[in-house]
Amino acid sequence: MWDNFATQENIEFRHMTTHRTILVTSALPYANGPIHLGHLVEYIQTDIWVRFQKMRGNTCHYVCADDTHGTPIMLRAEKEGIAPEELIRRVHGEHLRDFTGFHIEFDNYYSTHSEETRQLAETIYGRLKERKLIEDRSIEQYYDPVKEMFLPDRFIKGECPKCHAKDQYGDSCEACGATYSPTDLINPYSAVSGAAPVRKESVHYFFKLSDSRCHDFLSKWTTGQLTPEPPLQTEAANKMAEWFEAGLSDWDISRDAPYFGFEIPDAPGKFFYVWLDAPIGYMGSFKNLCERLNLDFDQYWNKDSSTELYHFIGKDILYFHALFWPAMLEHSDFRTPTKIFAHGFLTVNGEKMSKSRGTFITAESYLQQGLNPEWLRYYYACKLNGTMEDIDLNLEDFVARVNSDLVGKYVNIASRSATFIQKYFDGRLDEPSEAGSTLLAASITHEELIAEAYEAREYGKAVREAMSFADQINQYFDQNKPWEIAKDPTKRQLLHAICSDCLRAFYRLTIFLAPIIPDTARKAFALFKIPDNPSWEDLDYRPVRAPKELREYQHLLTRIDPKQIESLVEANKHNLQAAAQPEPHSQQRHAEHQQHTIQPIADTISIDDFAKIDLRIARIAKAEHVEGADKLLKLTLDIGSETRTVFAGIKSAYDPAQLEGKLTVMVANLAPRKMKFGLSEGMVLAASDERGGPFVLIPDEGAQPGMRVK
Ligand code: 2FM
Ligand code: ZN
Repeated sequence: MWDNFATQENIEFRHMTTHRTILVTSALPYANGPIHLGHLVEYIQTDIWVRFQKMRGNTCHYVCADDTHGTPIMLRAEKEGIAPEELIRRVHGEHLRDFTGFHIEFDNYYSTHSEETRQLAETIYGRLKERKLIEDRSIEQYYDPVKEMFLPDRFIKGECPKCHAKDQYGDSCEACGATYSPTDLINPYSAVSGAAPVRKESVHYFFKLSDSRCHDFLSKWTTGQLTPEPPLQTEAANKMAEWFEAGLSDWDISRDAPYFGFEIPDAPGKFFYVWLDAPIGYMGSFKNLCERLNLDFDQYWNKDSSTELYHFIGKDILYFHALFWPAMLEHSDFRTPTKIFAHGFLTVNGEKMSKSRGTFITAESYLQQGLNPEWLRYYYACKLNGTMEDIDLNLEDFVARVNSDLVGKYVNIASRSATFIQKYFDGRLDEPSEAGSTLLAASITHEELIAEAYEAREYGKAVREAMSFADQINQYFDQNKPWEIAKDPTKRQLLHAICSDCLRAFYRLTIFLAPIIPDTARKAFALFKIPDNPSWEDLDYRPVRAPKELREYQHLLTRIDPKQIESLVEANKHNLQAAAQPEPHSQQRHAEHQQHTIQPIADTISIDDFAKIDLRIARIAKAEHVEGADKLLKLTLDIGSETRTVFAGIKSAYDPAQLEGKLTVMVANLAPRKMKFGLSEGMVLAASDERGGPFVLIPDEGAQPGMRVK
């Protein structure tokens, strides 16, 4: 029977794939907060991919670290009355405990507050400086005169300019959702000392992203012109194109003391901004691993490296990873990433995670409540694909899915078949039967599709394939009715064959699912008396690789009791009251660290200069998509006496239907501009900066098309 499958072709196919050397990272979590289910989407996604690569026989290292620097961490330590070093040491332990609890298997989990990272940061900065890509400039920012420190937006509070809710953050209002600048707050105060912030000048260091060398490199790199395959997902590449169009601004990479971080060489009192050394922490963690395992760091990071480098990240930190990071690496003579894999955010029951609803669930509470981490790993895998779409954890569906698939389909195969093998055959498996060959044949087809799906991070697809194989095995079992055959002592051989077929198929199915549920897989392999986790090669269709006997069956995985979910949600509601913390800001994590540069007002002009601009109220008579244009909408504007066609770069923010009929303001005397898609006869006004936009200007009620704006 085996001969049909141990064909030369099958065996060769297995050895055709070349051995790869891969370095993988997940984003570094900040060292001042707990790991929650939102974080885990990424670590589980990465861990599954890494486990798959290792099972394929590739050399794959997975490194991560705590992101330890910055103002929030410094202030948090101060509040707790401890040194930042002590805080980050404690949190490192907590993070590692939580990750381990969810079977996230890093090869190294380090800290950005390390000598390796410091040295690499200094090297990179030094090389950028040598190439004149660092510039110092004096800028004005908000300053707490009592605490004597500059204030990131999140540390300025005041009354919301829109809904007048008190004590809102400097970047957005949690009561009404408005986003604004700290200057817009009514009666702003420092969240650190309570003092009214003042404006203060200071010298900052900038990485010159606007330099033509960065621009030229990034325009090629982000569009895949420098790599065998595009380094970005299509949606991410589109986003890049938008950012390019908006123009790349220089990046402020320094912060003034007091700051917890690395002091910039030759610049006393100036520190590297946390986001400069964070990605360097990937290198630092890997360097530390190299020292431990005696690996060659340069082989992975040299410009001409033939190894692969992948960063798994959330879509909110694309800007840092797809622009700043490759530009920094390129211009400091290191290799650039092979690919950046961005994922979406997590919603729970269709909404943002919320502490008041109890859906801001920490990893620690999940484990403490006795929930199995593999339930979540499996559910996330069902939902994950290779895009940046958000994924939803629907708690009811979670229970149903895990119980029906993992317990009802997968575990069921083993528990039913193993009983007979133990009872009548002393745990020994029979040779495959003629009838069972269909199962073996099916597993070959599934195997290829599943491997492709894992590689492409299409885990939902991999799970569907695996479950369809589980269905086939269960059908085979049911059709043969072993429970009836068992009643007839003359049919022992048939019984033996059927149950052995199902268990062998179960063994293969376990290999397929092992990257997702490694701990259950380990127990299942132990059932077959196989101590180490088999690799993909063990799917080899030669008898030598197949399991031969069974240990006494022990339960592999329990069902979820919906009550467990209720208690979990309850426990997380309590957390909020105990800690009296505000709702988390969102999963747009980098926003917490932003510091607002007060945009200097442009040079003074005379009223005559201003009068040269003929601004008119325009009615948007028509708004249309433009074929082939990523960013532009074609607007037909009625300005009373005439109509104008204007191509406006507002596609990312507006649906054309939403604009039709609205009034706006246009520059009516701008020289017409010939564009790829036609002639643009003016410009509509819209606001934007790093916080968002474009926001089209809309005049107050009563304004009429053609009226002059002055
Ligand atoms: O957004 C965050 O949570 C950051 N701590 C991620 C850093 S990723 C990398 F660049 F280090
Ligand atoms: Zn508000």
